[in-house]
Amino acid sequence: MSTKADSWGSRVGLILAMAGNAVGLGNFLRFPVQAVQNGGGAFIIPYLICFLVMGIPLLFIEWSTGRYGGKFGNHSTPYILNTMGKSRVWKYIGVFGIFTNIAVAAYYCYIESWTMSYVYHSIVGTFKDMSQADVAGFFNSYVDVAHSTTGIPYEAVIFYIVCLLLNTYILSKGLSGIEKVAKIGMPLLITFGVILAIRGLTLGTSGASDIFPEANAWDGLNFLWTPQFDSLSNPKVWLAAAGQIFFTLSVGMGTIHCYAAYLKEKDDVALNAVSAGFMNEFVEVVLGSLIVVPIAAGYLGLDWVIQNAGFGMAFQTMPYLFQQWGDVLSIFAGVFWFGLLFFAGITSSLAMGTPWMGFMRDEFNWSKNKGAWSFGALALTMGLPTVIFYNQGLFDQYDYWAGTVSLVVFAFLETILFSYIFGIKKGWVEINKGADIKLPGFYKYIILIVTPALLGWVLVSSIPDWVDKVKDSDTHNKEWFSDAYYAENFESTGTKSAIVEEVTPTEIKFTFENE
Ligand code: PHE
Ligand code: NA
Repeated sequence: MSTKADSWGSRVGLILAMAGNAVGLGNFLRFPVQAVQNGGGAFIIPYLICFLVMGIPLLFIEWSTGRYGGKFGNHSTPYILNTMGKSRVWKYIGVFGIFTNIAVAAYYCYIESWTMSYVYHSIVGTFKDMSQADVAGFFNSYVDVAHSTTGIPYEAVIFYIVCLLLNTYILSKGLSGIEKVAKIGMPLLITFGVILAIRGLTLGTSGASDIFPEANAWDGLNFLWTPQFDSLSNPKVWLAAAGQIFFTLSVGMGTIHCYAAYLKEKDDVALNAVSAGFMNEFVEVVLGSLIVVPIAAGYLGLDWVIQNAGFGMAFQTMPYLFQQWGDVLSIFAGVFWFGLLFFAGITSSLAMGTPWMGFMRDEFNWSKNKGAWSFGALALTMGLPTVIFYNQGLFDQYDYWAGTVSLVVFAFLETILFSYIFGIKKGWVEINKGADIKLPGFYKYIILIVTPALLGWVLVSSIPDWVDKVKDSDTHNKEWFSDAYYAENFESTGTKSAIVEEVTPTEIKFTFENE
């Protein structure tokens, strides 16, 4: 057992760290792709329902589970789960909550490192006077590590290593380092986001005229926010919505348990969990939909957005569109946009390092330094192949197994443990202990019945997808990029036939006649 455990400095620090954990690249890069590819307004209703009956309950479960485990000096899921379920098997299930973090951190920090590099390139004016094709080409060259011509040799690898070093250094300072980054990063992120969102809202059709005269930013917003009830019966949309809720709230990973394990026994979890969850949703649903989608739609039209959502939009196009705002403003816009992504990313990747550190400290009394550096080394070892073989789609494999499938499996199992093995009666007492809000009693039954049922359904219905993914490495999981992006950027290793569009957003009333 550890000597003296770390602890949170203040409640504000804790909430910002937890919100920082949740608010991440997923809010700005993954959410718009999911929303757009699943029919815009068709996606929002299942998404919000999943948030209320699966996301919020899982936050309650993970916060209270973490605090409970922390009482016994445990700070990572193997031993936290073990305190709740006596069977040994929970210890092994808990191992998921350490290793998936390392695997996700490996590719997540790669995206994070792009944002650092793009802040740099925005400041030095690399994108100035580039055509759209040049900006897109810059990204392609950047990720083609061995042949890159972006200026600095092996630039992508260098920024990746710098990014990991920065994460490692902050982690070595323990919770106070994480708190400090969250206290600086979250307010800046929200400020940058609000400024860009106002731009997105007010862009209209102005300025767009020479690129695509018919383009209108409001088309993007209407597409996202006009509810489409007809797709409520489409299980694919529900699965995508559930998947986004897991990833964006950081549930099913072990990071929330770990952060909550540093709470004191009487600290509130109910209000804290709801606050961090809603802060994430504000950033995702409001800021996440008011920036890239309307800005890109304002210049290039909605059809283009639907085709190119994801990295194609964020990295291959935004720097070009910012140029339309003039030399000086474009620097600010670039710094705000990529800076925002950077803060979103780092406050999340730091969270991914903590379960490993907590485990090594609890069990082997490792120092923070040793824990942090070993985490950095593990992430680097796992991540370098995704960096070098980016174009072979390895990134996508990691994201699928560690960042998508394992969250659902883990969340399902921990819910069963909480409601049926530990028992909902004791569980509900844990959630309400020290609570600063009175939770409606029906939530107890949601946690007991609705959450596990929905999770079980999500789990079972995604099994055919797992099989497809194993059989055909070309069936990509569409989490971060569209089909068009995938087809263009990743080398084919099998048959393309498996990529079929289940929901074609364009079917749903929104089509452009011109072009
Ligand atoms: N929630 C983060 C995002 O939206 C990602 C994340 C997942 C962070 C799991 C920590 C743990 O980007
Ligand atoms: Na998020």
